[in-house]
Amino acid sequence: MKITKICCIGAGYVGGPTMAVIAQKCPHIQVTVVDLNEERIAAWNDKDVNNIPIYEPGLAEVVADARGRNLFFSTDVDKAIAEAQVIFISVNTPTKTYGKGKGMAADLKFIELCARQIARVSKEDKIVVEKSTLPVRTAEAIKSILDHTGNGVQFQILSNPEFLAEGTAVTDLLNPDRILIGGDASDEGQKAIQSLVEVYGNWVSKDKILTTNVWSSELSKLTANAFLAQRISSINAMSELCEKTGADVNEVAKAIGMDSRIGAKFLKASVGFGGSCFQKDILNLVYIAKSYGLNEVADYWEQVIIMNDYQKRRFSNKIVQTLYNTVSGKKITFLGWAFKKDTNDTRESAAIYVADDLINEQAQIAVFDPKVSQKKVLADLNYLETRSSDKNEDSVTSFEDPYQACKGAHAIAILTEWDAFTEYNWQKIYDSMQKPAFLFDGRNILNAQELRAIGFVYQAIGS
Ligand code: NAD
Ligand code: UGA
Repeated sequence: MKITKICCIGAGYVGGPTMAVIAQKCPHIQVTVVDLNEERIAAWNDKDVNNIPIYEPGLAEVVADARGRNLFFSTDVDKAIAEAQVIFISVNTPTKTYGKGKGMAADLKFIELCARQIARVSKEDKIVVEKSTLPVRTAEAIKSILDHTGNGVQFQILSNPEFLAEGTAVTDLLNPDRILIGGDASDEGQKAIQSLVEVYGNWVSKDKILTTNVWSSELSKLTANAFLAQRISSINAMSELCEKTGADVNEVAKAIGMDSRIGAKFLKASVGFGGSCFQKDILNLVYIAKSYGLNEVADYWEQVIIMNDYQKRRFSNKIVQTLYNTVSGKKITFLGWAFKKDTNDTRESAAIYVADDLINEQAQIAVFDPKVSQKKVLADLNYLETRSSDKNEDSVTSFEDPYQACKGAHAIAILTEWDAFTEYNWQKIYDSMQKPAFLFDGRNILNAQELRAIGFVYQAIGS
């Protein structure tokens, strides 16, 4: 089937950028991205393309190129489903916060709602693509909903997980390491796979498009995230040993990364990984393993999360201990709140947990992040429900100017690796701070020698 109309349900960090790139690269395909969130859709349609709801380098240009030509954003979900030959489901799949599997299993209620809506609206055969990250064998549940519509419509379900990382979404989408498409072994299943291969084939070379069965595809996505997160927890575990032994984690990472079997990427020690997916996907993997009675497998992967939680706590403990065991009433400035640089996304950012710990110790937190508002910072803290929102508001202040944020601070903590932080006038910052001026570099991005020469008490991760 030649694809000319695509619909994507979910205009978030995945749906928005992915569909924008498909539309840009396939001018012959009409791409409609739909969402229940009216505010989000209005922002995607904002006349000023710089106001789109997601900050990603290069994304505004791609959207400007295709929007109104063959890329559309709408809240009319039924219409877009009815018209499309291919429907991508790209809705959120958070960790369950209630009932069975609470705190571990993926909450699939949004996925099920999409499947029921597709079943209700569809009058012609369609290909349904799982773009969201899902537990292995979810396609089975979707299929069982779609197969019971009673109106004779045939559905093919494909798994096409997304591997983009935030902050580099556009380059990742334009030059993917691979595109993974899982489908049914039947003739119809293979035809559906080929239709999607043709779409990606407009800009991705065929040798990078991998086709598998549905279950391998679903499980590969969870496996990829588990392996990536495991590397970070592994190097973070080593960072503490480095601090005790006089080794330097940056040197260790470089030394092991030069072994081509290990590879140099994803070995940056940090205050701990954040983001909406690593923790959620590993917990989901742990839950699935447990549900099959594979307790050793579950324990093995759970350790990645345990280590990450420990690394975040270790960072806040280190700040308290170094500041003479009390931060009560002290101004501690956070440079960065996003979970990584070049994104406005703060989901599961280490900054939230470090701030929460320090507020428990009665610190006053000042925040500067080039892309995150005070409203978002407060919402993130309130979401933890550790204390009242009034108390959070009394404890945290955001600044528009980094120098103002640092003025009078007892300590600065780097929580996000924004490039701009390395270019600041650190002498000026030092002069405006309380002395001794403490600097905790949770991202190892600053030059230790230069900062110590200025007079900072500088502490990095893993050295
Ligand atoms: P998101 O929260 O940014 O976006 C999801 C959107 O879906 C929201 O705007 C929400 O309003 C909408 N939605 C939910 N239910 C809906 C419904 N029934 N009808 C219409 N719209 C609905 O989430 P995201 O970060 O884009 O992640 C989506 C999926 O992709 C998740 O499964 C995630 O694990 C996976 N993923 C995310 C990333 C990433 O970098 N964020 C990368 C790869 C995979
Ligand atoms: C991650 C994966 O990299 C993507 O391939 C995947 O598609 C995505 O999850 C997903 O499924 O959502 P993302 O979370 O956007 O992407 O960003 P990463 O670059 O992976 O960073 C995640 C966290 O790990 C960040 O907090 C980052 O600062 C931290 N990190 C990363 C480190 O602490 N050290 C490193 O060496 C690398």
